[in-house]
Amino acid sequence: MFHSAIESRLRAAVSALVPTADPATIQVKPASEARFGDFQSNSLMLVAKAARMNPRQLASDVVARLDVSELCEPVEIAGPGFLNFRLTRQALEQWLSDAACGKPVLIPKAETPRTVVLDFSSPNVAKPMHVGHIRSTGIGEALQRMWRLLGHRVISDNHIGDWGTQFGKLLVGWKELLDRQALESDPIAEMERLYKTVNTQCDADPARLEMARQELVRLQAGDPENLAIWKEMIRLSQVQFDTLYGRMGTRFDHTLGESFYNAELGSVVEALLAAGIARLSDGAVAVFSDRTLSPKEDPFLVSRDGEWVDVPALIRKSDGGFNYMTTDLATVDYRIRTWAPDEILYVVDDRQSGHFRGLFHVFARWQPEAYRKTQLRHIGFGKILGEDGKPFKTRSGDTVRLADLLDEAEERALQVVTEKRPDLDPSERREIARIVGLGAVKWQDLLPNRQSDYVFSWDKMLALQGNTAPYVQYQYTRAAKVVRDSGAPTAAQPIALTEPAEIALAKHLMNLGFTLQAAAEECRPNYLCNYLHELAGLYSSFYEACPVLKAEEPARSTRLALCRLSAQVLRLGLETLGIEVTEKM
Ligand code: ARG
Repeated sequence: MFHSAIESRLRAAVSALVPTADPATIQVKPASEARFGDFQSNSLMLVAKAARMNPRQLASDVVARLDVSELCEPVEIAGPGFLNFRLTRQALEQWLSDAACGKPVLIPKAETPRTVVLDFSSPNVAKPMHVGHIRSTGIGEALQRMWRLLGHRVISDNHIGDWGTQFGKLLVGWKELLDRQALESDPIAEMERLYKTVNTQCDADPARLEMARQELVRLQAGDPENLAIWKEMIRLSQVQFDTLYGRMGTRFDHTLGESFYNAELGSVVEALLAAGIARLSDGAVAVFSDRTLSPKEDPFLVSRDGEWVDVPALIRKSDGGFNYMTTDLATVDYRIRTWAPDEILYVVDDRQSGHFRGLFHVFARWQPEAYRKTQLRHIGFGKILGEDGKPFKTRSGDTVRLADLLDEAEERALQVVTEKRPDLDPSERREIARIVGLGAVKWQDLLPNRQSDYVFSWDKMLALQGNTAPYVQYQYTRAAKVVRDSGAPTAAQPIALTEPAEIALAKHLMNLGFTLQAAAEECRPNYLCNYLHELAGLYSSFYEACPVLKAEEPARSTRLALCRLSAQVLRLGLETLGIEVTEKM
């Protein structure tokens, strides 16, 4: 991998000249524009500034010490001290030849693999999974695959909402209003109906609310009847979750729901009380600001009428029940004790950012040692909007169910496939439509910067041109077909790059590793989407400009290697995003 080879040599050269420089801050990146070469480093200016040196002078001293001659043309110093690196044709050809015959030069394996706990999807029991869950599930799955591909140890845990006050109402509904037949045909819809009915009744009638509370208390006290009903609700919900995860291609190592931490909650509260982090407040237990942060950064203060007022985090209610925060505190504690992770990533809606800031801050006060060793990160994301700019809903104004959305995606893709490929038989068309339809929805969701809201559009996502899954999937089928038609085995072949389209494609293929690293590090699958879209475009231009199978040697072998590698990278990239490929479209 050139980028890391150049980077480590640059680090050595800088360290020799400026021993105080932190090597980690010396970085080499793919060039922002082709006219600057293939890679660039902007780090010397910072090093020079910190060491009070002239950056231009430092740059020329570094270049004098830096031996990259078998990889690059003479290194260029630009502006106040930028370094530009241009690969030699030979180095690029060697890389392509290695990559094409399967040498491990495509994906950089992490030198120090990290253990990462990934908390994602995490739907609530007895409620249908809705369109929003495509975000947490899709982004989480892509992260899980990226981190694993780079050689890290990932522990994925679906933190389902299987405990909490909603079960009081659900239990009242189940005992009095359950329609067995409806439960059999669509369990989630029936449970949702029960919840909604009782919830409305509770709003109007305090006696009903008290009844729900009693049922909840009985459940929490271990009443066998209530426990059995509760377990049945979880089982039925899990069936629905599993069906959807099957369709989405998502897998978890663990599904430790909120209820898993029940037994710990009491002692978490006691520990926080004993440490003076929490205190009694109107019969409840809460964590208040410790005034160590500036008010702006303090998760437990808000500004009201120009004054900073306390917004404590409740960890035990006055009736003895526990909160979301309490469960999450017990969960961090458990995860750290069980897996000793370097990082815990929470892929959850940005509306919960306050909760996570609070959680991390309380945990830091509670277990400062563990907090220092484990990076806790909230990987937030924005909303899905309808064409009208308001949250995406069905025509009748209801939340869109994930199952319906996936059905419609496959249905709409089937229309497109049927139009384009009437020659294929219906079962084949269905399978292609499944792959294209699900791919289109996922791509649309992964493509924007995750924190931005985006507008859901069937027409845009299914378009065969543009930054879409179908476009990238289609370029894959073209590349894969050339390879199949060639009948050539993957063996070392003479490589000679001459055409600009070949060179541009080869260079972009080479940047897969860098893209994956950045996408994993920053938890931004959109980097990989954009990389693949660009690759698909470069492949398409190459395919139009350069005949492959009819070309003379060594152009034929070179181009075939480019096709093979393009197909491989497009497929690997899509699959890393949780998107399948098809051989025909
Ligand atoms: N079940 C929660 C919800 O639907 C999300 C849980 C996210 N994970 C966590 N550890 N809090 O809002």
